[in-house]
Amino acid sequence: MSGLTWDESMATGDPLVDQQHQNIHELVDYVEAMRDRPELLMQVLDRLMEHVDCHFTTEETLMEKTGYTGEEEAEHIAEHRKLTQDARDAVLKFRTGELTRMEPVVEFLRTWLADHVHNRDKKFIDYVRARGGMAVVPEPWAAKPLEVGEWVA
Ligand SMILES: [Fe+2]
Ligand SMILES: [Fe+2]
Repeated sequence: MSGLTWDESMATGDPLVDQQHQNIHELVDYVEAMRDRPELLMQVLDRLMEHVDCHFTTEETLMEKTGYTGEEEAEHIAEHRKLTQDARDAVLKFRTGELTRMEPVVEFLRTWLADHVHNRDKKFIDYVRARGGMAVVPEPWAAKPLEVGEWVA
């Protein structure tokens, strides 16, 4: 696996947020590894979307709890919504056969993740940590923990 994978420079200092970021990067690596195995690729994409959804809910719940409001919050959440929509569109295009190559999607996701963590998440988690807050797994995922999964390479 190659490319812009998770590294220490992306650490925010919140254990759960960092774990979720690593899980998402791992799933993007799986998308790349499964690019020629459509039967597994769909499963990996579904799992990736589930993790992204859980992660964004984790951060947005934490914003609410810690009173992170204003322009920073609005722009941060808008980036989450845009990524969710773009990723859904890509998965749909893949399902319908309009999109056949995963490489551009993988590149887009890695670049987005790195930019978003450096420009948005770190700033937000600094704010949270300064107030002694930390992320917790939101419902309904707390009751049924997500697993990244193991796919045969
Ligand atoms: Fe994040
Ligand atoms: Fe975020």
